[in-house]
Amino acid sequence: MLSPVRITVTGAAGQISYSLLFRIAAGDMLGSNQPVILQLLDIPESRKILDGVVMELQDCAFPLLAGIIATHDPMMAFDQTDIAILVGARPRRKGMERKDLLQTNGEIFRNQGKILNQVAKRDAKILVVGNPANTNTLITMKNAPDLPAENFSGMLRLDHNRALSQVAMKLNQPVSNIKKMIVWGNHSSTQFPDLYHAEIGDTKVINLIKDPIWIENYFIPTVQKRGAVVIEARGLSSAASAANAIIDHLRNWFFGTADGDWTTMGILSDGSYEIPEGVIYGFPVICKNGMREIVQGLEINPFSRTRLDAAYNELTQELDSIRHLLP
Ligand code: NAD
Ligand code: LMR
Repeated sequence: MLSPVRITVTGAAGQISYSLLFRIAAGDMLGSNQPVILQLLDIPESRKILDGVVMELQDCAFPLLAGIIATHDPMMAFDQTDIAILVGARPRRKGMERKDLLQTNGEIFRNQGKILNQVAKRDAKILVVGNPANTNTLITMKNAPDLPAENFSGMLRLDHNRALSQVAMKLNQPVSNIKKMIVWGNHSSTQFPDLYHAEIGDTKVINLIKDPIWIENYFIPTVQKRGAVVIEARGLSSAASAANAIIDHLRNWFFGTADGDWTTMGILSDGSYEIPEGVIYGFPVICKNGMREIVQGLEINPFSRTRLDAAYNELTQELDSIRHLLP
């Protein structure tokens, strides 16, 4: 029997967590042989709801669920954690951009970064979901200087999955046939879902779509604005699809990306693709043995270049507004 993996989920009483925790405990993320201990954090005001979530987790009698800790104390929630999924933050409402949340949410990630630095396992993997996800990842990472920077990710997997589905529907193909999608940049409306490298078999997706107007006027804006459109429709932000993206992101990080494919993760820029060092940026990555590498050598045409730069510029503006949260 494998020893249990400690998984911290913040915002555990919220709507994403309600779609996430049960799937983790069922083995969807780390596999059907891997026991888990859930370390659930929420604020005292959400205690009653969190108690209800714990009762339901118990009532599922999951064979892999080796323990549950439910607390409002981040020291306890992050203690010896192997995987920290930072969801807890305010969601945006209709009419807001994600960066409007920066001042409210940024502080949360500064504090949690400091605590992760003190009590998490030294090789813990940390995924930041709370918005604006890229800059919150940077705040968390910079406040946890003793943990390796390569162990931090911001979530762009929901955007990546949205892009796959739009292409699958357009070409009437199974999603699993579409490889090498990329969503560059920020989890915001400046993100660039890039079809120039995507393939089905040996054929480029753009040669199958043969419709640049659809790509520019429908595909790109649909993926960029999907979060806002879901909020408009549901009155609440995406939750089940976000939870699913968390599971996909971490499963790839732990078990690797498929041969001949890659995924998108928000990771610390290292100068690749002329994106200067120091921002959390969506790049195509290949994962193997728990490590990831940015896919190198892709050609960036002038259309793409403008969009890659726009996302970088937005991230530098976000960075300017939260410098006081960095040590
Ligand atoms: P929600 O309001 O339903 O839940 C948030 C939970 O976080 C609440 O239970 C709240 O009490 C808790 N919380 C607030 N401050 C906290 C703190 N300091 N420590 C611990 N818990 C805290 O929101 P949700 O729909 O679950 O969304 C959570 C976040 O995820 C939002 O910021 C949302 O915008 C973001 N999000 C990101 C993506 C992405 O793709 N990156 C996708 C969907 C949502
Ligand atoms: C999403 O992409 O659905 C989330 O980031 C929520 C939002 O504010 O759009």
